[in-house]
Amino acid sequence: MDNKIRITILGLGHVGLPTALGFAQIGWEVIGTDNDLDKLDLISEGVVPFYEPGISEMLKKYLGQGNFKVEKNQSQAIKDAQCIFVCVGTPQNSDGSADLSQLETVAKTIAENISGYKLIVEKSTTPVTTAANLRLSIQRHIDTRIKKQGKTSDDFEFDVAVNPEFLKEGTAISDFMCPDRIVVGVDNEKSRQLLKAIYLPLFESEDVFEEKFMVTDVNTAEIIKHASNAFLATKISFINMLADLCEAADANVADVAKGIGMDKRIGPSFLNAGIGFGGYCLPKDIRAFSWIASQYGVDFSLLREVDKINLDRIHKFVDKVKKILWVLKGKNIAVWGLSFKPNTDDIRESPAIAVVNKLLKLESNLKVYDPSISDILEKGGLPTGLESIETYSTPISAATNADALVILTEWNEFKEIDLIELKENMAVPIIFDGRNIYESKEMREIGFEYYGIGLR
Ligand code: UDX
Repeated sequence: MDNKIRITILGLGHVGLPTALGFAQIGWEVIGTDNDLDKLDLISEGVVPFYEPGISEMLKKYLGQGNFKVEKNQSQAIKDAQCIFVCVGTPQNSDGSADLSQLETVAKTIAENISGYKLIVEKSTTPVTTAANLRLSIQRHIDTRIKKQGKTSDDFEFDVAVNPEFLKEGTAISDFMCPDRIVVGVDNEKSRQLLKAIYLPLFESEDVFEEKFMVTDVNTAEIIKHASNAFLATKISFINMLADLCEAADANVADVAKGIGMDKRIGPSFLNAGIGFGGYCLPKDIRAFSWIASQYGVDFSLLREVDKINLDRIHKFVDKVKKILWVLKGKNIAVWGLSFKPNTDDIRESPAIAVVNKLLKLESNLKVYDPSISDILEKGGLPTGLESIETYSTPISAATNADALVILTEWNEFKEIDLIELKENMAVPIIFDGRNIYESKEMREIGFEYYGIGLR
Protein backbone atom coordinates (compact mmCIF):
# COMPACT_ATOMS: atom_id res chain seq x y z
CA MET A 1 0.00 0.00 0.00
CA ASP A 2 1.42 3.40 -0.89
CA ASN A 3 0.73 6.44 1.23
CA LYS A 4 -0.86 8.58 -1.44
CA ILE A 5 -3.83 10.53 -0.15
CA ARG A 6 -7.04 9.57 -1.98
CA ILE A 7 -9.11 12.63 -2.80
CA THR A 8 -12.51 12.81 -4.46
CA ILE A 9 -13.75 16.05 -6.01
CA LEU A 10 -17.52 16.45 -6.27
CA GLY A 11 -18.29 18.96 -9.04
CA LEU A 12 -15.85 19.50 -11.91
CA GLY A 13 -16.51 23.14 -12.83
CA HIS A 14 -14.25 26.20 -12.85
CA VAL A 15 -13.21 25.44 -9.25
CA GLY A 16 -13.42 21.65 -9.05
CA LEU A 17 -11.43 20.73 -12.15
CA PRO A 18 -8.40 23.02 -11.50
CA THR A 19 -8.44 21.86 -7.86
CA ALA A 20 -8.54 18.19 -8.92
CA LEU A 21 -5.66 18.64 -11.34
CA GLY A 22 -3.68 20.67 -8.82
CA PHE A 23 -3.94 17.82 -6.32
CA ALA A 24 -2.98 15.35 -9.06
CA GLN A 25 0.09 17.48 -9.79
CA ILE A 26 1.07 17.31 -6.12
CA GLY A 27 0.94 13.55 -6.51
CA TRP A 28 -2.31 12.56 -4.81
CA GLU A 29 -4.73 9.98 -6.22
CA VAL A 30 -7.65 12.07 -7.42
CA ILE A 31 -11.10 11.01 -8.55
CA GLY A 32 -13.42 13.57 -10.12
CA THR A 33 -17.16 13.22 -10.43
CA ASP A 34 -20.10 15.43 -11.41
CA ASN A 35 -23.86 15.16 -11.95
CA ASP A 36 -23.40 16.18 -15.58
CA LEU A 37 -22.50 12.92 -17.31
CA ASP A 38 -21.86 14.59 -20.70
CA LYS A 39 -19.28 16.79 -19.01
CA LEU A 40 -17.67 13.70 -17.46
CA ASP A 41 -17.47 12.07 -20.92
CA LEU A 42 -15.67 15.11 -22.30
CA ILE A 43 -13.26 15.33 -19.38
CA SER A 44 -12.46 11.63 -19.53
CA GLU A 45 -11.52 12.15 -23.21
CA GLY A 46 -9.14 14.94 -22.19
CA VAL A 47 -11.44 17.80 -23.24
CA VAL A 48 -11.88 20.72 -20.83
CA PRO A 49 -15.43 22.07 -21.14
CA PHE A 50 -14.36 25.68 -20.50
CA TYR A 51 -11.38 27.90 -21.31
CA GLU A 52 -8.67 28.07 -18.65
CA PRO A 53 -5.01 28.54 -19.62
CA GLY A 54 -2.79 25.50 -19.00
CA ILE A 55 -5.53 23.18 -17.86
CA SER A 56 -5.92 21.03 -21.01
CA GLU A 57 -2.29 19.98 -20.90
CA MET A 58 -2.60 19.06 -17.22
CA LEU A 59 -5.78 17.09 -17.81
CA LYS A 60 -4.20 15.00 -20.57
CA LYS A 61 -1.05 14.47 -18.52
CA TYR A 62 -2.72 13.26 -15.32
CA LEU A 63 -5.36 11.18 -17.10
CA GLY A 64 -2.43 9.54 -18.88
CA GLN A 65 -0.46 8.99 -15.70
CA GLY A 66 -3.56 7.62 -13.99
CA ASN A 67 -3.51 9.81 -10.88
CA PHE A 68 -6.60 11.67 -12.06
CA LYS A 69 -9.61 9.54 -12.92
CA VAL A 70 -13.16 10.37 -13.83
CA GLU A 71 -15.85 8.32 -12.11
CA LYS A 72 -19.50 8.42 -13.19
CA ASN A 73 -20.65 6.38 -10.24
CA GLN A 74 -20.71 8.91 -7.40
CA SER A 75 -21.22 6.22 -4.77
CA GLN A 76 -17.98 4.58 -5.86
CA ALA A 77 -16.16 7.93 -5.94
CA ILE A 78 -17.21 8.56 -2.33
CA LYS A 79 -16.39 5.06 -1.11
CA ASP A 80 -12.85 5.30 -2.50
CA ALA A 81 -11.93 8.63 -0.87
CA GLN A 82 -10.24 9.63 2.37
CA CYS A 83 -11.09 13.23 1.74
CA ILE A 84 -13.99 14.60 -0.30
CA PHE A 85 -13.82 18.17 -1.63
CA VAL A 86 -17.26 19.55 -2.37
CA CYS A 87 -17.06 21.95 -5.34
CA VAL A 88 -20.71 22.02 -6.45
CA GLY A 89 -22.43 25.22 -7.53
CA THR A 90 -24.19 27.57 -5.13
CA PRO A 91 -26.17 29.72 -7.58
CA GLN A 92 -28.21 32.75 -6.67
CA ASN A 93 -31.87 32.59 -5.65
CA SER A 94 -34.18 35.39 -6.75
CA ASP A 95 -33.92 37.07 -3.30
CA GLY A 96 -30.11 37.18 -3.53
CA SER A 97 -29.55 34.25 -1.14
CA ALA A 98 -27.46 31.24 -2.17
CA ASP A 99 -29.26 28.16 -3.45
CA LEU A 100 -27.77 25.36 -1.36
CA SER A 101 -29.88 22.52 -2.74
CA GLN A 102 -26.89 20.89 -4.46
CA LEU A 103 -25.17 20.68 -1.06
CA GLU A 104 -28.18 18.94 0.47
CA THR A 105 -28.05 16.37 -2.36
CA VAL A 106 -24.32 15.93 -1.68
CA ALA A 107 -25.05 15.37 2.04
CA LYS A 108 -27.46 12.57 1.22
CA THR A 109 -25.15 10.92 -1.32
CA ILE A 110 -22.22 11.04 1.10
CA ALA A 111 -24.28 9.63 3.98
CA GLU A 112 -25.56 6.79 1.82
CA ASN A 113 -22.06 5.77 0.79
CA ILE A 114 -19.86 6.57 3.74
CA SER A 115 -17.84 3.77 5.29
CA GLY A 116 -15.02 4.21 7.79
CA TYR A 117 -13.73 7.77 8.25
CA LYS A 118 -14.08 10.59 5.73
CA LEU A 119 -13.12 14.25 5.86
CA ILE A 120 -15.66 16.29 3.91
CA VAL A 121 -14.28 19.64 2.81
CA GLU A 122 -16.57 22.41 1.66
CA LYS A 123 -14.80 24.36 -1.10
CA SER A 124 -17.86 25.89 -2.73
CA THR A 125 -18.52 29.47 -1.66
CA THR A 126 -21.23 29.27 0.97
CA PRO A 127 -22.84 31.55 3.55
CA VAL A 128 -21.70 31.26 7.15
CA THR A 129 -23.17 28.22 9.01
CA THR A 130 -23.50 26.15 5.81
CA ALA A 131 -20.79 23.74 6.98
CA ALA A 132 -22.58 23.33 10.31
CA ASN A 133 -25.82 22.59 8.46
CA LEU A 134 -24.05 20.23 6.08
CA ARG A 135 -22.72 18.31 9.08
CA LEU A 136 -26.22 18.09 10.64
CA SER A 137 -27.72 16.97 7.36
CA ILE A 138 -25.13 14.23 6.77
CA GLN A 139 -25.63 13.04 10.35
CA ARG A 140 -29.41 12.96 9.91
CA HIS A 141 -29.10 10.78 6.79
CA ILE A 142 -26.57 8.55 8.53
CA ASP A 143 -28.91 8.10 11.52
CA THR A 144 -31.62 6.92 9.13
CA ARG A 145 -29.17 4.46 7.62
CA ILE A 146 -28.13 3.18 11.06
CA LYS A 147 -31.75 2.48 11.94
CA LYS A 148 -32.48 0.76 8.65
CA GLN A 149 -29.30 -1.29 8.40
CA GLY A 150 -28.79 -2.06 12.09
CA LYS A 151 -25.27 -0.57 12.08
CA THR A 152 -23.60 1.46 14.84
CA SER A 153 -22.45 5.07 14.62
CA ASP A 154 -18.81 3.82 14.80
CA ASP A 155 -19.21 2.50 11.25
CA PHE A 156 -19.70 6.02 9.91
CA GLU A 157 -17.22 8.60 11.12
CA PHE A 158 -16.76 11.94 9.45
CA ASP A 159 -15.71 15.54 9.93
CA VAL A 160 -16.70 18.60 7.96
CA ALA A 161 -14.11 21.28 7.22
CA VAL A 162 -14.14 24.48 5.19
CA ASN A 163 -11.36 25.32 2.74
CA PRO A 164 -12.44 28.30 0.63
CA GLU A 165 -11.10 28.62 -2.88
CA PHE A 166 -9.48 31.83 -4.02
CA LEU A 167 -8.92 30.76 -7.63
CA LYS A 168 -9.42 33.43 -10.26
CA GLU A 169 -10.66 32.40 -13.69
CA GLY A 170 -7.84 32.71 -16.19
CA THR A 171 -5.13 32.10 -13.57
CA ALA A 172 -6.72 29.22 -11.66
CA ILE A 173 -3.76 26.86 -12.00
CA SER A 174 -1.09 29.33 -10.88
CA ASP A 175 -3.39 30.52 -8.07
CA PHE A 176 -3.66 26.89 -6.93
CA MET A 177 0.06 26.10 -7.20
CA CYS A 178 1.26 29.41 -5.65
CA PRO A 179 -1.47 30.48 -3.24
CA ASP A 180 -1.36 33.72 -1.21
CA ARG A 181 -2.87 31.76 1.66
CA ILE A 182 -4.63 28.51 2.46
CA VAL A 183 -7.50 29.04 4.84
CA VAL A 184 -8.97 26.03 6.59
CA GLY A 185 -11.87 26.00 9.01
CA VAL A 186 -11.81 22.85 11.16
CA ASP A 187 -13.39 21.43 14.30
CA ASN A 188 -10.50 19.26 15.42
CA GLU A 189 -6.84 18.35 15.12
CA LYS A 190 -7.50 15.29 12.94
CA SER A 191 -9.04 17.43 10.18
CA ARG A 192 -6.25 20.02 10.48
CA GLN A 193 -3.57 17.34 10.14
CA LEU A 194 -5.13 15.79 7.04
CA LEU A 195 -5.50 19.18 5.33
CA LYS A 196 -1.95 20.05 6.28
CA ALA A 197 -0.70 16.78 4.74
CA ILE A 198 -2.65 17.50 1.56
CA TYR A 199 -1.27 21.02 1.03
CA LEU A 200 2.22 20.83 2.55
CA PRO A 201 3.95 19.58 -0.65
CA LEU A 202 3.00 22.84 -2.42
CA PHE A 203 5.61 24.68 -0.35
CA GLU A 204 9.39 24.54 -0.34
CA SER A 205 9.55 24.16 3.45
CA GLU A 206 7.33 23.65 6.47
CA ASP A 207 8.18 27.20 7.64
CA VAL A 208 6.87 28.72 4.40
CA PHE A 209 3.81 26.48 4.66
CA GLU A 210 3.06 27.61 8.23
CA GLU A 211 3.24 31.27 7.13
CA LYS A 212 0.52 30.68 4.54
CA PHE A 213 -1.66 28.13 6.36
CA MET A 214 -4.37 29.79 8.37
CA VAL A 215 -6.45 27.61 10.66
CA THR A 216 -9.73 28.77 12.10
CA ASP A 217 -13.19 27.49 12.97
CA VAL A 218 -15.63 26.61 10.17
CA ASN A 219 -17.90 29.66 10.50
CA THR A 220 -14.95 32.05 10.40
CA ALA A 221 -13.50 30.37 7.29
CA GLU A 222 -16.83 30.79 5.51
CA ILE A 223 -16.91 34.47 6.38
CA ILE A 224 -13.29 34.93 5.19
CA LYS A 225 -14.30 33.73 1.73
CA HIS A 226 -17.37 35.93 1.37
CA ALA A 227 -15.58 38.89 2.93
CA SER A 228 -12.65 38.60 0.49
CA ASN A 229 -14.88 38.84 -2.56
CA ALA A 230 -17.03 41.52 -0.94
CA PHE A 231 -13.95 43.62 -0.21
CA LEU A 232 -12.65 43.25 -3.78
CA ALA A 233 -16.04 44.28 -5.14
CA THR A 234 -16.10 47.26 -2.77
CA LYS A 235 -12.70 48.41 -4.01
CA ILE A 236 -13.93 48.31 -7.61
CA SER A 237 -17.15 50.24 -6.89
CA PHE A 238 -15.15 52.75 -4.83
CA ILE A 239 -12.75 53.49 -7.69
CA ASN A 240 -15.66 53.66 -10.11
CA MET A 241 -17.32 56.39 -8.03
CA LEU A 242 -13.98 58.20 -7.99
CA ALA A 243 -13.93 57.86 -11.78
CA ASP A 244 -17.25 59.68 -11.97
CA LEU A 245 -15.92 62.44 -9.73
CA CYS A 246 -12.72 62.71 -11.76
CA GLU A 247 -14.68 62.92 -14.99
CA ALA A 248 -16.90 65.68 -13.60
CA ALA A 249 -14.06 67.63 -11.97
CA ASP A 250 -11.44 67.21 -14.75
CA ALA A 251 -9.06 64.91 -12.86
CA ASN A 252 -7.50 61.57 -13.76
CA VAL A 253 -8.75 58.44 -11.98
CA ALA A 254 -5.78 56.32 -13.15
CA ASP A 255 -3.45 58.67 -11.28
CA VAL A 256 -5.79 58.77 -8.27
CA ALA A 257 -5.70 54.93 -8.19
CA LYS A 258 -1.91 55.00 -8.39
CA GLY A 259 -1.68 57.66 -5.72
CA ILE A 260 -3.88 55.87 -3.21
CA GLY A 261 -2.59 52.41 -4.17
CA MET A 262 0.98 53.36 -3.24
CA ASP A 263 -0.18 53.42 0.37
CA LYS A 264 0.62 49.86 1.51
CA ARG A 265 -2.53 49.85 3.62
CA ILE A 266 -4.63 50.28 0.47
CA GLY A 267 -2.59 48.46 -2.19
CA PRO A 268 -2.68 48.98 -5.96
CA SER A 269 -4.81 46.06 -7.15
CA PHE A 270 -8.52 46.04 -7.93
CA LEU A 271 -8.47 49.79 -8.50
CA ASN A 272 -9.02 49.76 -12.27
CA ALA A 273 -12.02 51.91 -13.08
CA GLY A 274 -14.32 50.71 -15.83
CA ILE A 275 -17.72 49.28 -16.65
CA GLY A 276 -17.66 47.26 -13.44
CA PHE A 277 -17.21 43.76 -12.13
CA GLY A 278 -18.97 40.65 -13.44
CA GLY A 279 -18.53 36.90 -13.55
CA TYR A 280 -20.01 34.06 -11.59
CA CYS A 281 -18.55 35.06 -8.20
CA LEU A 282 -18.37 38.72 -7.21
CA PRO A 283 -21.95 39.80 -8.08
CA LYS A 284 -23.61 36.73 -6.54
CA ASP A 285 -21.31 36.63 -3.53
CA ILE A 286 -21.97 40.21 -2.41
CA ARG A 287 -25.72 39.56 -2.65
CA ALA A 288 -25.48 36.27 -0.73
CA PHE A 289 -23.25 37.92 1.88
CA SER A 290 -25.57 40.85 2.55
CA TRP A 291 -28.52 38.39 2.57
CA ILE A 292 -26.95 36.12 5.20
CA ALA A 293 -25.95 39.18 7.25
CA SER A 294 -29.59 40.29 7.22
CA GLN A 295 -30.60 36.84 8.52
CA TYR A 296 -28.46 37.60 11.57
CA GLY A 297 -29.95 41.07 11.98
CA VAL A 298 -26.92 42.84 10.48
CA ASP A 299 -27.75 45.50 7.89
CA PHE A 300 -24.88 45.27 5.36
CA SER A 301 -26.34 48.02 3.19
CA LEU A 302 -22.79 48.96 2.18
CA LEU A 303 -22.74 45.89 -0.07
CA ARG A 304 -26.12 46.66 -1.58
CA GLU A 305 -24.71 50.06 -2.52
CA VAL A 306 -21.61 48.39 -4.01
CA ASP A 307 -23.94 46.26 -6.15
CA LYS A 308 -26.06 49.26 -7.17
CA ILE A 309 -23.01 51.33 -8.15
CA ASN A 310 -21.80 48.38 -10.22
CA LEU A 311 -25.09 47.90 -12.06
CA ASP A 312 -25.25 51.67 -12.75
CA ARG A 313 -21.91 51.53 -14.60
CA ILE A 314 -23.62 49.98 -17.61
CA HIS A 315 -26.24 52.74 -17.90
CA LYS A 316 -23.64 55.46 -17.38
CA PHE A 317 -21.39 54.02 -20.08
CA VAL A 318 -24.15 53.64 -22.66
CA ASP A 319 -25.49 57.13 -21.80
CA LYS A 320 -22.06 58.52 -22.58
CA VAL A 321 -21.95 56.72 -25.94
CA LYS A 322 -25.45 58.02 -26.71
CA LYS A 323 -24.63 61.57 -25.72
CA ILE A 324 -21.52 61.73 -27.90
CA LEU A 325 -22.75 59.79 -30.94
CA TRP A 326 -26.18 61.49 -30.75
CA VAL A 327 -28.06 58.96 -32.93
CA LEU A 328 -27.26 55.28 -32.50
CA LYS A 329 -29.92 53.83 -34.76
CA GLY A 330 -28.26 52.44 -37.88
CA LYS A 331 -24.70 53.31 -36.81
CA ASN A 332 -21.97 50.67 -37.11
CA ILE A 333 -20.50 50.15 -33.67
CA ALA A 334 -17.51 47.83 -33.26
CA VAL A 335 -17.44 45.97 -29.94
CA TRP A 336 -14.23 44.51 -28.54
CA GLY A 337 -14.74 42.07 -25.69
CA LEU A 338 -17.64 39.94 -24.47
CA SER A 339 -16.14 37.88 -21.64
CA PHE A 340 -16.44 39.26 -18.10
CA LYS A 341 -12.65 39.62 -17.96
CA PRO A 342 -9.62 38.62 -20.08
CA ASN A 343 -8.32 35.05 -20.46
CA THR A 344 -11.67 33.39 -20.11
CA ASP A 345 -14.60 32.54 -22.37
CA ASP A 346 -16.98 33.05 -19.45
CA ILE A 347 -19.78 35.52 -20.22
CA ARG A 348 -21.84 34.91 -17.08
CA GLU A 349 -22.87 38.28 -15.56
CA SER A 350 -20.49 39.93 -18.00
CA PRO A 351 -20.78 43.74 -18.00
CA ALA A 352 -19.84 43.54 -21.70
CA ILE A 353 -22.97 41.51 -22.48
CA ALA A 354 -25.09 44.03 -20.56
CA VAL A 355 -23.66 46.89 -22.64
CA VAL A 356 -24.18 44.97 -25.89
CA ASN A 357 -27.82 44.35 -24.94
CA LYS A 358 -28.42 48.04 -24.40
CA LEU A 359 -26.69 49.06 -27.63
CA LEU A 360 -28.82 46.55 -29.54
CA LYS A 361 -31.99 47.99 -28.04
CA LEU A 362 -30.87 51.36 -29.42
CA GLU A 363 -30.82 49.74 -32.88
CA SER A 364 -27.13 50.17 -33.63
CA ASN A 365 -25.44 47.63 -35.92
CA LEU A 366 -22.94 45.78 -33.77
CA LYS A 367 -19.73 44.24 -35.15
CA VAL A 368 -18.35 42.10 -32.38
CA TYR A 369 -14.97 40.55 -31.67
CA ASP A 370 -13.68 38.72 -28.60
CA PRO A 371 -10.50 36.60 -28.55
CA SER A 372 -12.57 33.74 -27.14
CA ILE A 373 -15.50 34.23 -29.55
CA SER A 374 -15.13 30.80 -31.17
CA ASP A 375 -15.18 29.10 -27.73
CA ILE A 376 -18.18 31.19 -26.68
CA LEU A 377 -20.09 30.24 -29.84
CA GLU A 378 -19.07 26.59 -29.66
CA LYS A 379 -19.79 26.04 -25.99
CA GLY A 380 -23.20 27.48 -25.36
CA GLY A 381 -23.55 30.29 -27.86
CA LEU A 382 -24.55 33.86 -27.22
CA PRO A 383 -27.30 34.65 -24.72
CA THR A 384 -30.92 34.91 -25.85
CA GLY A 385 -31.48 38.05 -27.90
CA LEU A 386 -27.88 38.30 -29.04
CA GLU A 387 -27.87 35.34 -31.45
CA SER A 388 -28.06 37.57 -34.50
CA ILE A 389 -25.12 39.89 -33.76
CA GLU A 390 -22.37 39.85 -36.36
CA THR A 391 -19.15 38.36 -35.01
CA TYR A 392 -15.68 38.76 -36.53
CA SER A 393 -12.48 36.77 -36.30
CA THR A 394 -10.07 39.71 -35.79
CA PRO A 395 -10.35 43.02 -33.92
CA ILE A 396 -9.47 45.05 -37.03
CA SER A 397 -12.11 43.36 -39.19
CA ALA A 398 -14.75 44.14 -36.55
CA ALA A 399 -13.61 47.78 -36.47
CA THR A 400 -13.45 48.24 -40.25
CA ASN A 401 -15.89 50.96 -41.40
CA ALA A 402 -17.15 51.39 -37.84
CA ASP A 403 -18.60 54.72 -36.73
CA ALA A 404 -17.19 54.08 -33.25
CA LEU A 405 -15.47 51.38 -31.24
CA VAL A 406 -16.43 50.34 -27.70
CA ILE A 407 -13.92 48.36 -25.63
CA LEU A 408 -15.56 46.22 -22.96
CA THR A 409 -12.92 43.68 -21.82
CA GLU A 410 -9.25 44.38 -21.14
CA TRP A 411 -7.66 41.61 -23.25
CA ASN A 412 -3.92 42.05 -23.89
CA GLU A 413 -4.57 41.61 -27.60
CA PHE A 414 -6.34 44.98 -27.60
CA LYS A 415 -3.51 46.68 -25.73
CA GLU A 416 -1.06 45.48 -28.39
CA ILE A 417 -3.10 46.47 -31.45
CA ASP A 418 -1.58 48.57 -34.25
CA LEU A 419 -3.38 51.83 -33.46
CA ILE A 420 -2.52 53.48 -36.78
CA GLU A 421 -4.00 50.56 -38.71
CA LEU A 422 -7.05 50.69 -36.45
CA LYS A 423 -7.58 54.40 -37.10
CA GLU A 424 -7.18 54.01 -40.84
CA ASN A 425 -9.76 51.24 -40.99
CA MET A 426 -12.48 52.90 -38.95
CA ALA A 427 -15.03 55.12 -40.71
CA VAL A 428 -14.89 57.55 -37.79
CA PRO A 429 -12.06 57.16 -35.24
CA ILE A 430 -14.03 57.41 -32.00
CA ILE A 431 -13.24 55.04 -29.12
CA PHE A 432 -15.22 54.53 -25.93
CA ASP A 433 -12.87 52.59 -23.71
CA GLY A 434 -14.79 50.89 -20.89
CA ARG A 435 -11.58 49.43 -19.42
CA ASN A 436 -9.07 52.30 -19.70
CA ILE A 437 -6.51 50.27 -21.61
CA TYR A 438 -4.87 53.19 -23.45
CA GLU A 439 -3.28 56.53 -22.56
CA SER A 440 -5.64 59.39 -23.47
CA LYS A 441 -2.78 61.68 -24.54
CA GLU A 442 -1.29 59.14 -26.95
CA MET A 443 -4.69 58.34 -28.43
CA ARG A 444 -5.44 62.00 -29.09
CA GLU A 445 -2.02 62.49 -30.65
CA ILE A 446 -2.74 59.63 -33.07
CA GLY A 447 -5.99 61.32 -33.98
CA PHE A 448 -8.65 59.39 -32.09
CA GLU A 449 -11.54 60.96 -30.29
CA TYR A 450 -10.95 58.93 -27.14
CA TYR A 451 -13.24 58.56 -24.13
CA GLY A 452 -12.04 56.49 -21.19
CA ILE A 453 -13.66 56.20 -17.76
CA GLY A 454 -12.65 59.08 -15.48
CA LEU A 455 -9.54 59.88 -17.54
CA ARG A 456 -8.33 63.34 -18.55
C1 UDX B 1 -13.09 36.18 -8.06
C2 UDX B 1 -12.05 36.31 -6.94
O1 UDX B 1 -11.05 37.28 -7.34
C3 UDX B 1 -11.42 34.97 -6.63
O2 UDX B 1 -10.51 35.08 -5.54
C4 UDX B 1 -12.55 33.99 -6.26
O3 UDX B 1 -12.04 32.76 -5.96
C5 UDX B 1 -13.54 33.90 -7.41
O4 UDX B 1 -14.06 35.20 -7.68
P1 UDX B 1 -13.03 35.93 -10.71
O5 UDX B 1 -14.52 35.84 -10.68
O6 UDX B 1 -12.27 34.96 -11.55
O7 UDX B 1 -12.41 35.79 -9.24
O8 UDX B 1 -12.70 37.42 -11.23
P2 UDX B 1 -11.81 38.64 -10.72
O9 UDX B 1 -10.45 38.53 -11.25
O10 UDX B 1 -11.95 38.84 -9.26
O11 UDX B 1 -12.53 39.85 -11.50
C6 UDX B 1 -13.92 40.11 -11.28
C7 UDX B 1 -14.42 41.25 -12.11
O12 UDX B 1 -13.92 42.49 -11.64
C8 UDX B 1 -14.07 41.20 -13.61
O13 UDX B 1 -15.23 41.53 -14.35
C9 UDX B 1 -13.00 42.26 -13.76
O14 UDX B 1 -12.96 42.83 -15.06
C10 UDX B 1 -13.46 43.29 -12.72
N1 UDX B 1 -12.39 44.16 -12.21
C11 UDX B 1 -11.32 43.62 -11.56
C12 UDX B 1 -12.49 45.54 -12.36
O15 UDX B 1 -13.47 46.05 -12.92
N2 UDX B 1 -11.50 46.33 -11.84
C13 UDX B 1 -10.42 45.81 -11.20
O16 UDX B 1 -9.58 46.61 -10.75
C14 UDX B 1 -10.33 44.42 -11.05
